[in-house]
Amino acid sequence: QAPWLIVPAAGSGLRMGANRPKQYLRLAGRTVMWHTLQRLHSVFPEARLCLCLDPRDSCFEPDVVPFARWQRIAGGGERADSVLHALEWIAAEEGDEQALVLVHDVARPCVTAEDLMRLHDAVDADAVGGLLAAPVADTMKRDDGAGRVASTEQRAGLWHALTPQGFRLGLLRDALMDARRAGRGMTDEASAVEAMGLSPRLIPGRRDNIKITHPDDLALAEQILAAQAS
Ligand code: C5P
Repeated sequence: QAPWLIVPAAGSGLRMGANRPKQYLRLAGRTVMWHTLQRLHSVFPEARLCLCLDPRDSCFEPDVVPFARWQRIAGGGERADSVLHALEWIAAEEGDEQALVLVHDVARPCVTAEDLMRLHDAVDADAVGGLLAAPVADTMKRDDGAGRVASTEQRAGLWHALTPQGFRLGLLRDALMDARRAGRGMTDEASAVEAMGLSPRLIPGRRDNIKITHPDDLALAEQILAAQAS
């Protein structure tokens, strides 16, 4: 059974400082969005895709979507709102609350097929679900709000939360609705599930599954794609 895919792509990407959202910037001759959707399609060709877009988005071209079955979803104010809109649409289409849903940032075009398959198989076999994650390599400092170190965090046991993150439809929708009701801001799906008292599985993933955020990330992503292809 192919999973449902949600790709939140309704962000403005202000930190890139570009004249268009970062998913429409050029990366190795194509847009970031093109690469991300191709990677997902190569592993899940039969999946049904929900693509969350800003209703005012004027850059999107439907030709970029390689999936046969896909739906444009109106994004919300925060990433979690965009994902929740997609989950509500899926819930109306899909009778099975246990259907598997994978959420992947449009801004992560370097995710590999191997990581996508491993993530899928791990969350499909898990009672809670989980996320790709990479161990933190640097020593982590917390600031005092005035440019000085307040404390050093224990690095051991810290992970970067990556995407995809995969959960059952009913669980994820309940988790995100609870979070919205409680007014909790969240930057990923796992944290909403954690707030329900559950422990998502950490599935070790590649560190080069970067999220394009700052201008120099585009050149880095180009190098990563070239290295992966060689
Ligand atoms: O801004 P950031 O990189 O953290 O966004 C992560 C992902 O969430 C991006 O793929 C972005 O397009 C998406 N997003 C969204 N709706 C929002 C804000 C961000 O779909 N309101």
